[in-house]
Amino acid sequence: MGICYEKGIRPFFFRMDPEDAHEWVAEAMKIMSALRPVCRWMARQNSLAGHLRPIELFGLKFPNAVGLGAGFDKNAKFWPAVLALGFGHVEIGTVTHQRQPGNPKPRLFRFPVEEALINRMGFNNDGAEKIARRLKRQFKSGRPEAPLGINIGKSKSTPLDHAAEDYVGSFHRLAEFADYFTINISSPNTPDLRSLQEETRLVYLLQALKNANEERAAALGTGRIPMLVKIAPDLSFPQIDGVLQTISDLGFDGIIATNTTLARPGRLAEVDQYGGLSGKPLRRASTGIIKYISRATGGKLPIIGVGGIDDSETAAEKLDAGASLVQVYTGLVYRGPMIARDLARGLAARQRDWV
Ligand code: FNR
Repeated sequence: MGICYEKGIRPFFFRMDPEDAHEWVAEAMKIMSALRPVCRWMARQNSLAGHLRPIELFGLKFPNAVGLGAGFDKNAKFWPAVLALGFGHVEIGTVTHQRQPGNPKPRLFRFPVEEALINRMGFNNDGAEKIARRLKRQFKSGRPEAPLGINIGKSKSTPLDHAAEDYVGSFHRLAEFADYFTINISSPNTPDLRSLQEETRLVYLLQALKNANEERAAALGTGRIPMLVKIAPDLSFPQIDGVLQTISDLGFDGIIATNTTLARPGRLAEVDQYGGLSGKPLRRASTGIIKYISRATGGKLPIIGVGGIDDSETAAEKLDAGASLVQVYTGLVYRGPMIARDLARGLAARQRDWV
């Protein structure tokens, strides 16, 4: 399938504008998602469920280590088809409290030689209310067959000083559907969002979310929903130390490393497009950060590794660096729809833990 995609299907898509190609794929996956029994059957086959030991992390069971990163299914329109392709979890969003159109187009750019993307989408999404109603409808045909994470971010119109209320609003509206939440403070495309990674602002934001989570759990008599923080690869090590301290003080469940980068390594230095860079050129920086976090926390903080994974070697590199799970986005664009199944198989063969 990999070769068939790269020789036949990819050239067809790569002649289209990148966002139009994404919309085209999204439409096809929406149609597939309506066939839930078929998706469920395919998910079991492709995710290797029943063949692998599930990975248990923050109270959840993941059928394999490979998830889909945030930004691909921003509006929760086609996650059943994502799971059908063999992903062991799917992260929808980023969802903001207010619906918003994002930045003007064009805002997504391909760099095939580097196997990279630059995007400045700007959290285009339907907003927490509409997405919650969509999830409610979808959940009538059953809960997802693997963990569904919900990535939340700040609405552009909300001032930074009111960020906490904005995130908490999204948390409350979406909590009943989330197996875990990711608190996104690392997108480069919402003005000032990354300054939420600074210690004082971060403590305030995460404390508000922790309180909301605990109050909800107490009111409903349920457990807390696992909460992770997604960081940028452009933080210095002392800045990462600050984030880790806050995560540890407040008892957050894990970290996703990393989001896209503002760096422009190699020939990309000549590219004059603002936005976050993803794909191959991000790989080493994100692995370096995972390694740093793993050492700094003595391997105790669960890490989801993401950035430039496109085969089982690069996925294994993240696991070896200390990640427990991985996510892909750009690799799906360059390697095709069977990437999750292929990675899960490759990792399983490497670890020889087929049952
Ligand atoms: C992203 N990413 C992203 N991350 C996030 O937390 N919220 C989002 O809305 C988005 N949106 C988004 C759009 C596009 C077009 C891309 C390419 C990426 C970041 C993504 O989840 C991931 O962290 C990075 O892309 C690095 O992984 P890859 O793409 O190198 O596998």
